[in-house]
Amino acid sequence: MSGTGATIWLTGLSGAGKSTISGLLGERLSAIGQQVEVLDGDEVRRNLSAGLGFSKADRDTNVRRIGYVCRLLSRNGVIAISAAISPYRAVREELKQQIPNFLEVYIDCPLKTCIERDVKGLYARALRGEIPAFTGVSDPYEAPLNPDLIISTDKETVEASVEKITYLLIERGHINA
Ligand code: ADX
Repeated sequence: MSGTGATIWLTGLSGAGKSTISGLLGERLSAIGQQVEVLDGDEVRRNLSAGLGFSKADRDTNVRRIGYVCRLLSRNGVIAISAAISPYRAVREELKQQIPNFLEVYIDCPLKTCIERDVKGLYARALRGEIPAFTGVSDPYEAPLNPDLIISTDKETVEASVEKITYLLIERGHINA
């Protein structure tokens, strides 16, 4: 089965669930024969964006690079899934203009819950002042004003979230029902 290609742009705080959702979504789409690639923030930073830090300029560069790859992939029929915090609204809007079939999905989770989860132990360190400019703690996160979809990971299961995104892809004609 081949679709039209699209970019699913997950945005949200660290620990909100972007990687978990993108992983399962990638598996599910792959299982139905869809070409799919996941661009995960942490992995991109070890490779394509190695050397970049967390200043606004470096984050914008990171996000633009991911967007560039998503555009190349999605114009070749691939569903590209980005899972980076991408905290700045303006650069996300820029990508939305540049990338055909760009779907912005807000992975919404209260900061309090992300801090409680603290999967990587980074919030504890950030709250102790050991990590400067940590998103949500000492650096901004600008939530989307008009996303294509909002997923509330403190209220729904990963399965339900993946189903919602899959349904959005069907609805927009990027994959067949
Ligand atoms: S983005 O802002 O450029 O989109 P990206 O998603 O690539 O961020 O990387 C975020 C990940 O880097 C976090 O999940 C966390 O593991 C790690 N990280 C390290 N330092 C920071 C920081 N200052 N702010 C946010 N995340 C950080």
